[in-house]
Amino acid sequence: MRVTLSVIKADVGGYVGHSSMHQGLIERAAEVLGGARDRGLIYDFRVLNVGDDLELIMTHGRGVDSPEVHALAWQAFEAATAVAKSLKLYGAGQDLLSDAFSGNVRGLGPGCAELSFEERRSEPVIVFMADKTSAGSAFNLPLYRIFADPFNTAGLVISEALNSGFDFEVHDVIEHKKVVFSCPEELYALLAFIGSPLRYAVKAVYSRGTGEVAAVSSTERLSLIAGRYVGKDDPVLIVRAQGEFPAVGEILEAFSHPHLVEGWMRGSHYGPLMPVGFGDARCTRFDGPPRLVAAGFQVAEGKLIGPVDLFGDPAFERARELALVVADYLRRHGPFEPHRLPMEEMEYTTLPRLMQKLKDRWLPIDTPVPTGD
Ligand code: F6R
Ligand code: MG
Ligand code: MG
Repeated sequence: MRVTLSVIKADVGGYVGHSSMHQGLIERAAEVLGGARDRGLIYDFRVLNVGDDLELIMTHGRGVDSPEVHALAWQAFEAATAVAKSLKLYGAGQDLLSDAFSGNVRGLGPGCAELSFEERRSEPVIVFMADKTSAGSAFNLPLYRIFADPFNTAGLVISEALNSGFDFEVHDVIEHKKVVFSCPEELYALLAFIGSPLRYAVKAVYSRGTGEVAAVSSTERLSLIAGRYVGKDDPVLIVRAQGEFPAVGEILEAFSHPHLVEGWMRGSHYGPLMPVGFGDARCTRFDGPPRLVAAGFQVAEGKLIGPVDLFGDPAFERARELALVVADYLRRHGPFEPHRLPMEEMEYTTLPRLMQKLKDRWLPIDTPVPTGD
């Protein structure tokens, strides 16, 4: 059976501030998706959240970029926005950048990751959802570890099903170009680009053994779409597991190191990406630290069996502890780089307006300073 898994997300109102999600939004979105399931438009769905982001996880038979499925997601976001407005939640409707839906959510504000596959005898998938960060920042390093680093993924060395390697599709999110690197042969070239994750983001990974899609991330850059800072992209990533793909545990292992990502406080600070259970998907301290949840599913005849809260496990305590130590260390830098993003990367934050306001205060360096005599 051919199944498409679509994860479409948006921030349509935070509770309280940008920290978390009101249950009313989840319930309203679930009502809209429930109606669509009853009508046969989609096979199944779950509505989850990470921080202030509403996550629609849907299975259906309509392929990627289906206008009907995207319209459904848009309707669910609009319905949740109405609830957010009635409760005066913070930033109600903020990621719905257009009044008019035109067949696809891409370019209109929401983030989107979708993949289609012939359902295997058993089909384990993991949906990663992050708040206060961007796709390249959150996922380039772990995707490299999962699909190209034998020190993370034992199967690359000892499983025949994996050792033909993986193709990485990398997007230049500024110039809208893409390139595919075949690994392990092109590992160094891959790293030369994805080590700059604000510009180059891994969009998808494919098994070289079977050509099957292994992972897809949402690479929409909200600020580039809006032309100004309206919030971080807060990306999602879908990864298929087991058999010809890395094991669930090899995929999760890549997140045992809370690497630094951009997006903390005002989208302008680096912080550690902290893997947390669903109950801790709440961005509190300094609007963070950036968080990641992992929802594990078995897909069965198009139905979503799950989720399992994969980071809600003591095995990730040490990653969280390290993230908190790193958070303390970085916070002591206050407004100084490298806690704060470098100037060039602040282009789509609130800083440029302040710079504009102060621009006439700058004088040539040899201007005499009034001394008072
Ligand atoms: C939102 C975010 C937050 C906000 C901050 C200020 O994605 O990262 O840190 O930028 O709470 O929000 P405003 O400007 O809406 O008061
Ligand atoms: Mg928000
Ligand atoms: Mg968010």
